[in-house]
Amino acid sequence: MAKKKQQQPEFDKYYYYSKAVQDASFDIDFLNEKYQELRGRKPLSFREDFCGAAHLGTEWVKQSSKHTAVGVDLDPETIQYGKEHYWSQLKPDQQKRFEYHQQDVTKTKDSADIICAFNFSYWIFRERKQLLKYFKAVRKNMKNDSVFFLDTSGGTEVVDERSECKELDGFKYYWECESFNPINHECHFAIHVKPDGRKIQKHLFTYHWRYWTLPEIRDVLAEAGFSKTLVYMEGDDGEGEGDGEFDIAESAEECMIWVAYIAALP
Ligand SMILES: C[S@@+](CC[C@H](N)C(=O)[O-])C[C@H]1O[C@@H](n2cnc3c(N)ncnc32)[C@H](O)[C@@H]1O
Repeated sequence: MAKKKQQQPEFDKYYYYSKAVQDASFDIDFLNEKYQELRGRKPLSFREDFCGAAHLGTEWVKQSSKHTAVGVDLDPETIQYGKEHYWSQLKPDQQKRFEYHQQDVTKTKDSADIICAFNFSYWIFRERKQLLKYFKAVRKNMKNDSVFFLDTSGGTEVVDERSECKELDGFKYYWECESFNPINHECHFAIHVKPDGRKIQKHLFTYHWRYWTLPEIRDVLAEAGFSKTLVYMEGDDGEGEGDGEFDIAESAEECMIWVAYIAALP
């Protein structure tokens, strides 16, 4: 009798993306702590720009019946995935407090205690005037006590043309810098995944970005009308790795790759 071919489960690229690069509980703890320090109260409303499937925003509304969130993204496919996999898992009362807005982040009018742009998504704006337009639009949407949080990255190897591999539960994750142009800082990054026992799946996600340095980002934020920017750098665990604690800094030691957060105040 012919052997029945075993069916492989359908490949879900967003599942691997979420496991490899997202940590919603870390992000929420970070945002709550830093907002509380800056504003002396808990943040309740949240706007996640470039939200993708909005894993973070849908977790945000689980905190209490007063928490609300909107996720802004252009891509209908990613939003549809988020609706089916994250939003649908919320309780009805939580579902009412989260909305997807399929929109350009430079056009949205939503205000919130916290507006955030994470996973370097704003690097999609490769021209200074585009980045300035986005930051100006965010600035316009802010209340007196809103805070705009962004993450960024740097270090001597951040745009080295190479691939970095992490062994995760059930799969290998690759972050590859495929090209970097030192003249205009345009770069191509790609995510590949190799699930255990299966072939590598290349280019699950690709990014044509500009690598913006931290001082450039601060300058553009200032030009967009933000009165102050604070940089949170990660501490050292003593063995050359980050310790997961981010504190305000105005000077730091350079290392191969670092991630930092910026809080921009109106
Ligand atoms: C790197 S993903 C980020 C997903 C999510 N923020 C995260 O942290 O994992 C970038 C997202 O930005 C969206 N995007 C790109 N340009 C945009 C724009 N101008 N307005 C809104 N969304 C945009 C893409 O559709 C994509 O879902």
